[in-house]
Amino acid sequence: EWILWKYLVGILFALFLLLFALGIRQLLKQRRPAGFPPGPRGLPFIGNICSLAASAELPHVYMRKQSQVYGEIFSLDLGGISAVVLNGYDVVKECLVHQSEIFADRPCLPLFMKMTKMGGLLNARYGRGWVDHRRLAVNSFRYFGYGQKSFESKILEETKFFIDVIETYKGRPFDFKQLITNAVSNITNLIIFGERFTYEDTDFQHMIELFSENVELAASASVFLYNAFPWIGILPFGKHQQLFRNAAVVYDFLSRLIEKASINRKPQSPQHFVDSYLDEMDQGKNDPLSTFSKENLIFSVGELIIAGTETTTNVLRWAILLMALYPNIQGEDSFDDLRIYAKLAKMTIFHSNEEFSILVLKNKKSTSRAEYHRFTPKNQLTKQTKTYYICFSCLGRRHCLGEHLARMEMFLFFTALLQRFHLHFPYEVVPDLKPRLGMTLQPQPYLICAKRR
Ligand code: HEM
Repeated sequence: EWILWKYLVGILFALFLLLFALGIRQLLKQRRPAGFPPGPRGLPFIGNICSLAASAELPHVYMRKQSQVYGEIFSLDLGGISAVVLNGYDVVKECLVHQSEIFADRPCLPLFMKMTKMGGLLNARYGRGWVDHRRLAVNSFRYFGYGQKSFESKILEETKFFIDVIETYKGRPFDFKQLITNAVSNITNLIIFGERFTYEDTDFQHMIELFSENVELAASASVFLYNAFPWIGILPFGKHQQLFRNAAVVYDFLSRLIEKASINRKPQSPQHFVDSYLDEMDQGKNDPLSTFSKENLIFSVGELIIAGTETTTNVLRWAILLMALYPNIQGEDSFDDLRIYAKLAKMTIFHSNEEFSILVLKNKKSTSRAEYHRFTPKNQLTKQTKTYYICFSCLGRRHCLGEHLARMEMFLFFTALLQRFHLHFPYEVVPDLKPRLGMTLQPQPYLICAKRR
């Protein structure tokens, strides 16, 4: 029995030493390196994670406050991961434009590694894989999308389906979110799969819901903790597990969609993005360095769908909310741009700089320059009517590749809606205007009545 005790005490002591060593290692990792930008003090082990992700304030509000104390460039400790926050047009331009090569990477966070192995497009490391995938996506969006003369009429066709559904409510209150998501994602679907999905296609809707949920989960404190301490992944519960489960369902669904889209494929005669990708895969068959693969195809398709849907949907949801909030301007022939962009995208996707292994967040508060343009709903096809709704992170190599498409979509959907309906809140009750954190800042769910003009 005595030997057993000695054995047990030995194990406990070894465990204690191991934990002690790991603790010291973590605390050393959390020390701000010499010359690193200043920033708020964090807690031992978890650094600033709690203040950033779990406080009552939204992250951009917290960061704006820190920037008032520590300056335009400051640092945060995300549990041993050093992050630098850039807050101001000049500093963001300096890094993302003048030093674009250095800041074009994405950080290898455990979550991104697990989700896309740093492949695909949006989260890809800056290298050949990203160059190949970005080139293919940009060309496909131009060739199968806004580069086609008929593409505007394809969007207009979708706006008709959209308007028809709104008509069925006959001015009764309803939440536009699902409808806008379906309609907007169909524009991207046309380019990616060559077809739209009906609004009754609940499988596709479910996939988008899971994807959006994942984007929200990715911004949660417990997933930040997973990034700092990836061993948390072995725990069978928690938000990270929910995220992994959702991702498995989404990838499975996407791979089936891709298979279906390629059934009638004629090699070298692509009809949509998936066809073009498969052609690239064929061409790269004998190239051991080719980055085109079935797996990267799934990741890219998923990223393009969500990047194109969440953002544009939420701009339209804000626009509708603001129209109902200021009903007088709905009747006017033209009005000044809404500056919706200021609400939507306060930060951008993480960038990284390999040399210093830091993260770069852009707090866009001070980067979005106010641009007012006349907006003329009645004049929807007049190209001179410039509508700048949003800041697309037009700076640097990773700038949004869907900007042109998004502008077209937002303009056509918004004008189609305003031309036919007057929007107001049911019983004139104004909903909560506090934004909700997801991939972008989105409005809280709200009901709206669309009355035929
Ligand atoms: C209102 C709509 C949109 C907004 C506000 C928006 C905003 C952004 C922002 C802020 C970034 C990050 C840029 C950076 O890392 O510095 C981005 C990247 C990206 N966007 Fe958009 N976007 C919109 C629509 C779209 C659409 C319609 C698509 C395509 C279907 C798209 C595809 C992408 C992709 C693929 C990236 C990653 C680019 C890369 O890493 O090389 N976006 N977008």
